[in-house]
Amino acid sequence: MDEFIAIDRSSSNSEKYTLRQKLFGTDNVQPMWVADMDIATPKYVFDAVANRLKHPVMGYEIMRDEAYEAQCLWMERHHGWHIKREWLSYSPSVVASIGCAIRAFSNEGDEVLVMSPVYPPFFSMVKENNRHLVLHSLQRDDEGEYFFDIETLRTQITIKTKILLLCSPHNPVGRVWREEELRTLGALCLEQGIIIVSDEVHCDIVFEGNKHLPIASLSQELGENTVTLLGTGKTFNMAGFGISTVCIASEKLRELYSQERKRIHFGDGAVLSHVAFEAAYTDGDEWHQKLMSNLQSNRDKIIEWANYSPVIKIFPPQGTYLAWLDCRALGLGDRELREFFIQKCGLGLSAGLSFGREGSGFMRLNFAVSAELLEIALKKISDALERREHESKN
Ligand SMILES: Cc1ncc(COP(=O)(O)O)c(C=O)c1O
Repeated sequence: MDEFIAIDRSSSNSEKYTLRQKLFGTDNVQPMWVADMDIATPKYVFDAVANRLKHPVMGYEIMRDEAYEAQCLWMERHHGWHIKREWLSYSPSVVASIGCAIRAFSNEGDEVLVMSPVYPPFFSMVKENNRHLVLHSLQRDDEGEYFFDIETLRTQITIKTKILLLCSPHNPVGRVWREEELRTLGALCLEQGIIIVSDEVHCDIVFEGNKHLPIASLSQELGENTVTLLGTGKTFNMAGFGISTVCIASEKLRELYSQERKRIHFGDGAVLSHVAFEAAYTDGDEWHQKLMSNLQSNRDKIIEWANYSPVIKIFPPQGTYLAWLDCRALGLGDRELREFFIQKCGLGLSAGLSFGREGSGFMRLNFAVSAELLEIALKKISDALERREHESKN
């Protein structure tokens, strides 16, 4: 499986590497933060792009119906969700779609519900657009599985609450929401007239025993009340192509969204991205299977490692290639915890606190790396913990 060997990205202007000095104060860390993969984007995607490059003109192009249809078929095959081509529109990025949806479905001063901890742009997009953040703290059960509390959520809703921003599967806590959870949440939103904007960019990275359910697929009513954000960025490691889509079944919501989209002129994207997108979804089944078997094995490795770790705990991620390490037993403040990983482990992880105050005492580790690199990283943590234990005894 050549595609899944370690790839040296240190000289390819990868943000994961180039921002090390700025983020961690040193280049001397193995970076395991931003959510892209240190494995090759599929070769068949590059073949399609190379083929397009044989043509000498790179002018304006709109995305082909075939590209959207390839995504529809993928969603049907992989998630049993039947979507129509006309529900889909191009977006340069999922975060841009979040901003566009916030402006399309609410006014300045309105409230947007967000479950914390969560991917930081969920907070910033609400604030940058002058809406009020209503934060719902996710809870943890005794095993460490996160859940939302529907009765508390209900009390947080006011007349000004217009949107629920849902992260499904959830970054950083790795939850793949179960059907009854989504149905309860969906029913509350329908009852209260709240539009669901569901970021499902991690939908294809789901581990054995779990199933991603697009919330829009659960009923006709939920389909009509939901805006789903999708894309090739995570599944095919294509963030650098700057392409994603927004799926809206409701004609009314589609119209509102489309007006806002025109105001900011999303346009229709770049030729090479269109080609890459279409190829990714058309020919991706086998590649995706291999990807998942590699990620599953890395995930299992971390779980096993954490089972032996006296201090770092983890609830098995159900989806995403992100491990949410519970480091609270180390007894360090957030600044010291971050420094421990940088200075003592030589690793550049994402600090839990950057995902909201509920992330205090946690660190997020991106395990979409080669098995070899993951082993090295885990050993670095184990060694640092051992040294720390030893020092504390002397
Ligand atoms: C939940 C979630 N949404 C969106 C993004 C970013 O997507 P894009 O690069 O298309 O804006 C990420 C990246 O980590 C993510 O985890």
